[in-house]
Amino acid sequence: MALFSSLTPVFIAIICVLIGVIMKKTNGEKEKCDTKSKHPSRPLVDEDLKDGTDHPLEEEEGEEEWQGLEENVAHVPFTSERYSEAEMIKRSQTFYELLNKRRSVRFLSDEPVPREVIDNVIRTAGTSPSGAHTEPWTFVVVQDPYLKHKIREIVEEEEEINYKKRMGDRWVNDLKRLRTNWIKEYLDTAPYLILIFKQVYGRLPNGKKKTHYYNEISVSIACGILLAALQNAGLCTVTSTPLNCGPQLRVLLQRPANEKLLLLLPVGYPKKDATVPALTRKPLEDIMVVM
Ligand SMILES: Cc1cc2nc3c(=O)[nH]c(=O)nc-3n(C[C@H](O)[C@H](O)[C@H](O)COP(=O)(O)O)c2cc1C
Repeated sequence: MALFSSLTPVFIAIICVLIGVIMKKTNGEKEKCDTKSKHPSRPLVDEDLKDGTDHPLEEEEGEEEWQGLEENVAHVPFTSERYSEAEMIKRSQTFYELLNKRRSVRFLSDEPVPREVIDNVIRTAGTSPSGAHTEPWTFVVVQDPYLKHKIREIVEEEEEINYKKRMGDRWVNDLKRLRTNWIKEYLDTAPYLILIFKQVYGRLPNGKKKTHYYNEISVSIACGILLAALQNAGLCTVTSTPLNCGPQLRVLLQRPANEKLLLLLPVGYPKKDATVPALTRKPLEDIMVVM
């Protein structure tokens, strides 16, 4: 009994330490839960559409990023074509008329298109300017019918949820006049699907992360050039942003984690009975301000 009472202060000390340890662990777990709940797993706005420049990727957070630019690049003389003013006016008018005929076509035929044309339009897109010349784009060209169908299954499943649940009445109403819905037959029929991924960061030869500043703007400009090149070649497409499909399509197409899907372009000739909504474009005075 005497021995027991002499040990009482020791027991009390041990119990205090145990309570302290348990409380610290509980607080830590609560903090972890709070951080998790700030990042819902199924976002309304596609996480892939955020620019990685502002949102460092969680999986590699803390890893140091380097621009990795070569310090010494030779500078060479620049030459370009010089046209007469009359020729410039004619060329700019002709180019405008060509691009003014571009329409988003949602009915594409399965008629084959030469691969060389696709190679050339993607080469053309690759001439785009990019932040610090990082060229943060990957153009995945899908021609395999099985893969095209898998893409269709993923897109249609997510788009049906977008139309029925995720997006509000206003979004569904705005799309009504375009007569577009979640059925995307063109994903099977178009001879090519071009999926454009933005690389939110790159890798240097030493394995370090390379910062891709303005990657989304750079890839968007490249996409604009690609659309113009397709139009120039006499091909049709519809610019599409399959909401919430990015991660699944990235895995299907075996793209690395630094690549995020930006756009999906089905490419081909229009179907014989294809229609487009009778939209008009804003006149010059509504889109240009001269000072
Ligand atoms: C960023 C962007 C996303 C678009 N996403 C879709 C889409 O997911 N599905 C679709 O059918 N059209 C989509 N479009 C096409 C637009 O609806 C189309 O460009 C617009 O109605 C004007 O028609 P036009 O391209 O024939 O001039 C998208 C266009 C842009 C620029």
